[in-house]
Amino acid sequence: MHRAHIVLDRQAVVAPVRRRTFGSFVEHLGRCVYTGIYEPEHPSANKDGFRMDVVDLVRELGSTTIRYPGGNFVSGFRWEDSIGPRDKRPVRRDLAWHSLESNQVGLDEFAAWLKLTGSELMLAVNLGTRGILPALDLLEYANHPSGTALSDLRIANGTPEPHNIRMWCLGNEMDGPWQTGFLNAEDYGKLAARTASAMKMADKDLELVVCGSSSAGMPTFGDWERTVLEHSFEHVDYISCHAYYQEHDGDLGSFLASALDMDFFIDGVAATVDHVAAKKHSSKKIGISFDEWNVWYQKEHQESDEVNDEWRQAPRQLEDVYSAADAVVVGNLLMTLLKRSDRVTSASLAQLVNVIAPIMTEPGGPAWRQTSFYPFSITSRLAAGEVIRPAIESPTYTTARYGEASVIDAVATVEEDRSALFLVNRGLSQPAQVTVDVRSLGSSRILEALTLADQDVYAKNTLAEPNRVVPHTNPNATMTDGVLTIELPPVSWTAVALH
Ligand code: AHR
Repeated sequence: MHRAHIVLDRQAVVAPVRRRTFGSFVEHLGRCVYTGIYEPEHPSANKDGFRMDVVDLVRELGSTTIRYPGGNFVSGFRWEDSIGPRDKRPVRRDLAWHSLESNQVGLDEFAAWLKLTGSELMLAVNLGTRGILPALDLLEYANHPSGTALSDLRIANGTPEPHNIRMWCLGNEMDGPWQTGFLNAEDYGKLAARTASAMKMADKDLELVVCGSSSAGMPTFGDWERTVLEHSFEHVDYISCHAYYQEHDGDLGSFLASALDMDFFIDGVAATVDHVAAKKHSSKKIGISFDEWNVWYQKEHQESDEVNDEWRQAPRQLEDVYSAADAVVVGNLLMTLLKRSDRVTSASLAQLVNVIAPIMTEPGGPAWRQTSFYPFSITSRLAAGEVIRPAIESPTYTTARYGEASVIDAVATVEEDRSALFLVNRGLSQPAQVTVDVRSLGSSRILEALTLADQDVYAKNTLAEPNRVVPHTNPNATMTDGVLTIELPPVSWTAVALH
């Protein structure tokens, strides 16, 4: 049995819990939109064709801001194709995912869907194959109240109120050679600055996200952020980070420590942002928008992929099925985003439905929760108030990828008389007994203690067995004199709510 001790100090506040940390992402990719959120023939569909079984799950997931419509898709997208009468909308090739886009769901429909889920829209403009004017036109269509050509067109299309979208992404992964119209840092930095400056002439309060590197592994990482910000610093509010993790070659120990890499990545981007701010003698704080993160088993082709040379609508793509271990990593990554709330002020789990997603659907059939659904939904429900950085004494283990990792990781939040503690046991075979001194938070009672684990770390939820892996009340959690004692099974994620 591993043993660890944690002290929570009410004074050790990192930052407020930012609701936008619990964002997600809907891309026109595979079956995320079509037969994911939208399926007019489905028995649960509402009058607009949206699956209400999926809406219910999205609400339960507790996602806040939702990034749309891509991703790589956005770099070939003409937004005008997806508005107005549906029978007039063109079918186009989506080069990014080698599929056909019917444009049956566009901005107005998606915004209506978001209202059902209670989420905020974060919209990306195409800076891959398009530029400033189409971005300004989209902004006018989306946000201008009325009395101009494009705002009146929106009204004529059936949406009288402006969408009032606050967060906008200036393209997507513009450093990636896979991106339609990718650019070097100089060219992108200049284009982003000019686009951002023009968009802020229309509305100075927009919150604009400039593209950082598409991953920390890119050869240009660091230099890309510096160059892009040297051009755009004055005009933007966030820089993006993207990171996906997977187990490589059976090295579960390293995989479980993926959060260390995310933390290191955040450090690198924060240092670069601060470097540019210092050079510019500026006290402006550029936030990090971690707007793509997840576990993703990236292979040339997934077994379930239906993509070949044919051009098809909504083929199955990137339909990863997550294990109990994957859910522990997702939970730990989310803990890291919370712990770094001083720098990470917005984040998006990529993606929401069917495509590397917490929610799966079958066309004409049910919708269900993947294992990764649970740590996200429970953290979104319980984390509130301020983030507390815990002092953790834990045994460590050596990983091949990330060096020394602590067996136990934790983060806490506190709001008035309620607090929440999130923990992982990365130990592969031993349970851990963890004591947590919560006296400084004034907590004395356990409200709930939920643990996600499975004897088979590779157990998954599937269409045939959708509830194979679910969280259970932890039977080994007690509280005495302000000290919580809890036993964590190996490879597990746990949330404890306290009063
Ligand atoms: O989320 C899947 C893809 O991953 C996105 O389209 C792209 O931005 C990233 O490479």
